[in-house]
Amino acid sequence: MVRHVSPSILAADFGNLERDIRLINESRASWLHCDVMDGVFVPNISFGVPVVQMACKISLKPLDVHLMIIEPEKYIDRFCDLGIDILTIHIEACRNIQSALNQIRNRGVKAGVTLKPGTPVETLKDILAEVDLVLIMSVEPGFGGQQFIDNTYRKVNELRALINNTNSRAMIQVDGGIDFTNALKLYKNGVDILITGTTVFKSENPVETIEKLLNV
Ligand code: DX5
Ligand code: ZN
Repeated sequence: MVRHVSPSILAADFGNLERDIRLINESRASWLHCDVMDGVFVPNISFGVPVVQMACKISLKPLDVHLMIIEPEKYIDRFCDLGIDILTIHIEACRNIQSALNQIRNRGVKAGVTLKPGTPVETLKDILAEVDLVLIMSVEPGFGGQQFIDNTYRKVNELRALINNTNSRAMIQVDGGIDFTNALKLYKNGVDILITGTTVFKSENPVETIEKLLNV
């Protein structure tokens, strides 16, 4: 299994965002993770189109955008117009997840669906064929630097079984509270992509930290 790391700029230094994004350009990160929050779906406001647009210009890594907003359908085209690579939306935020995912794919962008920790994997069973990625949140969405929720391993195993049984090609991402105490176990449980903010950007050397996560 190929291992991937997608560092979240939510934990970057927003006074030096260009510097931090260029740092990730030097790393073996597969994507750059952008956490868009609206203060309604989650109790926090992060950033929106202008920051993602700037990141698209500076980043040499494809952008992996995670929308933590209500009615994400309304913003799919706006974000896809920026030239991003992945757009992930919350199943809990969508009135019609199927059409939202098709809308993303019709724009030539990889479609991701994500579940809050309390949402069962079962809810995905009828849409797995329509997604390129499934993101299992290992923290309550809204903030970086939170504690990893151990129940995530069970959900990852359930998802892996569901993907195998439905011949889906979806990749598995996990997001939140990932560090050197859980990275290897996540990879061993079949996770393809680790999304991590604090562990990378609060470390002495983010490029080296990404290397270590890939070789853990
Ligand atoms: C939380 C975000 C995560 C978060 C990860 O709502 O979706 O991407 O920024 O940050 P850490 O790695 O600090 O938990
Ligand atoms: Zn995220």
